[in-house]
Amino acid sequence: MCKRLQVAIDGPASAGKSTVAKLVAKKFNYVYCDTGAMYRAVTLEALNKDIDPRDDERVAEIARQIKIDFEPGKTEQRVFLDGKEVTHDIRLPKVAANVSAVAAIPAVREEMTKQQRKIAENGGIVMDGRDIGTTVLPQAPVKVFMVASAYERARRRYAENQAKGINTASLEELQKAIELRDKKDSTRKVSPLTQAPDAIKLDTTNMTIDEVVNEISKIIKKRQDEL
Ligand code: DC
Repeated sequence: MCKRLQVAIDGPASAGKSTVAKLVAKKFNYVYCDTGAMYRAVTLEALNKDIDPRDDERVAEIARQIKIDFEPGKTEQRVFLDGKEVTHDIRLPKVAANVSAVAAIPAVREEMTKQQRKIAENGGIVMDGRDIGTTVLPQAPVKVFMVASAYERARRRYAENQAKGINTASLEELQKAIELRDKKDSTRKVSPLTQAPDAIKLDTTNMTIDEVVNEISKIIKKRQDEL
């Protein structure tokens, strides 16, 4: 019987983490947890309640009160906030514009970290985010840090928007927005985006999704054999 491991996948915005994490989870029959969606759900609830996303105390209160659930959907993971589906609402531009501020609140991170550890406690999980290998699951036997050039990430997002028929910003604008988020995520005081010393770095700039999934699968199998 193969060990059901904790797999931590971190990296900057739009590096393809969620696409790959979802496929890896499916392959190993593991649960997939998108921790960015949790920060987005807290942000959405704060905005819906007209709470300033920079009001640390009130936003932290929201983080402690709301119930976030995940359910596998046909093509995407469905996200529920207090029982109501918010899969699409958490991707709205107003949420994207405010989530960095919410994710920088220490008490919000503390609560999310607690919930994420609970979700991961029995293993058999692929969790993606920014601080999974460093803070949430520092003991995870598989840690991957996925990167890709800002231009490539913007190019992928641009193609994705076009395929979905979304009225997309230009490639240059997308690249600028990605660079700005990288800066915010990696310079914040609490749990900034950094590679864990024992994480394996995967530069996916010139890799296909299948190649990345295969590479991570190899790492998981190797660790399963070792443990
Ligand atoms: O991966 P994403 O774009 O859905 O993440 C949304 C925001 O949440 C992003 O600004 C980074 C933050 N985040 C975080 O601080 N820690 C995590 N573990 C996951 C996301």
